[in-house]
Amino acid sequence: MRVIHISAECYPVAKIGGLADVVGALPKYQNKLVVDSAVIMPFYNNKFTQNNTFKALYESTVKLGENQYPYEVLVLKDNILDFPVYFIHIESLLYKDYVYSEDDTDRFLAFQIAAMDWLLTLDKKPDFIHCHDHHTGLIPFMAQESFKYESLNKIPVITTIHNAQYQGWMPYEHLSKIPEFNLDHIGLLDWNGTINPLAAAIKCAWRVTTVSPSYMEELMQSANGLEALLSAERQKAIGILNGIDTDVWNPETDEYIVKNYKTSSVLSGKKANKSWLCKEFNLDESKPLFSFIGRLVGEKGAELLPSIFYKALQSKDISILLLGSGMSQTESELLSLKNIHIGNYNCFIGYDERLSHIIYAGSDFLLMPSRVEPCGLNQMYSLRYGTVPVVRSVGGLKDTVVDIKDKVGYGICHNDVSETSILEAIDRAKEFYKQETEFKNNRKVIMNIDNSWEVSAKAYINLYNSIT
Ligand code: ADP
Ligand code: GLC
Repeated sequence: MRVIHISAECYPVAKIGGLADVVGALPKYQNKLVVDSAVIMPFYNNKFTQNNTFKALYESTVKLGENQYPYEVLVLKDNILDFPVYFIHIESLLYKDYVYSEDDTDRFLAFQIAAMDWLLTLDKKPDFIHCHDHHTGLIPFMAQESFKYESLNKIPVITTIHNAQYQGWMPYEHLSKIPEFNLDHIGLLDWNGTINPLAAAIKCAWRVTTVSPSYMEELMQSANGLEALLSAERQKAIGILNGIDTDVWNPETDEYIVKNYKTSSVLSGKKANKSWLCKEFNLDESKPLFSFIGRLVGEKGAELLPSIFYKALQSKDISILLLGSGMSQTESELLSLKNIHIGNYNCFIGYDERLSHIIYAGSDFLLMPSRVEPCGLNQMYSLRYGTVPVVRSVGGLKDTVVDIKDKVGYGICHNDVSETSILEAIDRAKEFYKQETEFKNNRKVIMNIDNSWEVSAKAYINLYNSIT
């Protein structure tokens, strides 16, 4: 079984968020299950592409309306990744020092067309094309409708929705850039009077998945305008929970963290990592350390954090550390707070992969007050590193964190995204921290929870098999 994943991100090549982690792990775990799985992604100008050497497999030009762009399909010279990655290199469009920006429409249109043009030329075609998010949302449509891809239209296309908030909307002036199709079928591209790639994917993909079962249910009620469409396509939709790459996220072997540890050495291991963080960020090590890692956007409840932190820190019995970037107003409020709660609060505004690992390892609690969380990987990483997640019960968080009130519970859950609710959850966490024996035992329990990709990789394969 040959599977081609098509995605804008893939760890460790280019990562903005969890999409990269998923596309960087799922193919690897699929390959362990006798699937021949590979990835097609854009060739960006970043550290990974600068520090590695590539060779061209194929050269051509891609047509985007009136314009033609030369492109190459590149592969790594040395096979340093766990699965083949094919890079679409379009110098003037994709080779930028960013992944997403305001010029995404043309960039990802060209990416998708070039990827499909290249697939046309292959002797061994994939058995399944697996697309991720709206950046690849026109592929299911083009595979089914565009005349030039007719020979690909028997290959089942699967679309995984990692986040339905972003849909890739584009005005009709871009229509001529999409390879020619029967205009009677233009409705497949449309949602509310505009070209909507995610909607087109939901209509045309053979199967639609979301990254957790609860998120699929939630989307039927609230999907940034696509609720009715998802409900109508329900029979081909399924939620499959993401896993985590337990080779990358393993406190026993993680090269980023200050001291490695396993269940039996969790106390000293976490202590060493916490000490490092507290020294580095001038935090009181004797207090329970609450952290937040993530994009500072409304979906993550980020704009509530400055005020919540301000209030939670009044009693001076906790420390808080934040790593993230996003809305500028929230960033500056978080930075200002540094001058108020010196010694108990700090933040790093930016992106830092290594620091994120040390925070998972060294914190006592990880906060995720998300409004929307299709799956969420942070809570699973934190569990693996023995850090108690404090989460709003939504989407994948609901599917992966059980509250300590439950007999088999191990995390702290709250239902609302309000200051009161989040502050209450922090209070409950503090109480839990004081029950030393239970708290310490719980660390061992959560480190052993199996959220690895093994189960979910099989679920995807069952899904592919169910199509044929
Ligand atoms: P999302 O994809 O919605 O941002 P996920 O929980 O699925 O959320 O995944 C987020 C991923 O990005 C995790 O691997 C997390 O550690 C990482 N991450 C988020 N923000 C940062 C940051 N500022 N620095 C380092 N890693 C980050
Ligand atoms: C998206 C979602 C996040 C999910 C990730 C990987 O970015 O916001 O919840 O974990 O994709 O599927």
